[in-house]
Amino acid sequence: MDFEKIVKKRRSYKEFKDREVELEKLEKIFKLTTEAPTAFNLQAYTFKVLESEEAIESAVDSAIPENEWIKDADKIILLVGDERIDTNLDTVLEDLLEKDFVDENTATDYKERITGYRDRDNLFKTGWLNRNTMIPATFFMLACENEGLGTCPVRGFSNEKISESLELEDWERPSLIFPIGYPEKDERPHKWRRDGEEIFEVL
Ligand SMILES: Cc1cc2nc3c(=O)[nH]c(=O)nc-3n(C[C@H](O)[C@H](O)[C@H](O)COP(=O)(O)O)c2cc1C
Repeated sequence: MDFEKIVKKRRSYKEFKDREVELEKLEKIFKLTTEAPTAFNLQAYTFKVLESEEAIESAVDSAIPENEWIKDADKIILLVGDERIDTNLDTVLEDLLEKDFVDENTATDYKERITGYRDRDNLFKTGWLNRNTMIPATFFMLACENEGLGTCPVRGFSNEKISESLELEDWERPSLIFPIGYPEKDERPHKWRRDGEEIFEVL
């Protein structure tokens, strides 16, 4: 599908067919998701595919009542940010040096700055993780649409509840959940959107 079609067709799908979402499709989707940009290319996020009844129940139980519909999805995908932030730093720096994006001095400077992020406060980490999970989330949703899968970003759930029942590590911060499946109806009504001219100004 071409990009314009994918963007226009993507809607929040909340009703799904009783059909399994193949793991091979998800693998393709996650491969495309890794193309999303992140600050310093650190990619401090992971997606957890909740497939077992028990895991899906953990997500459903953590959701606010109006999000009960998520139980009808074939799988539920939980996007988590990595509060350590610098997990992939060595690989990132090696790559940047090898491809001449930076010199040794810049790499040393990056390393000092980024390892310091671990000790920053909660407000900093919240902002950092929000920014650095939302763009991968967007790539993920568009890649789902491209594969004919329906999903919807869902934030109405308790981080505490889902972290406890899935036994997440203390550095794993839930960001969004994505119930996923083959849509019951192919098209959903297009909700109101602002005009393109309204959302930018030329200074
Ligand atoms: C950050 C975020 C959180 C959202 N949380 C929920 C949610 O908890 N429950 C829900 O049903 N939809 C949720 N949505 C879906 C929005 O309501 C939906 O994207 C919006 O109404 C536009 O509709 P569309 O996606 O069909 O274009 C969320 C969307 C975003 C971006």
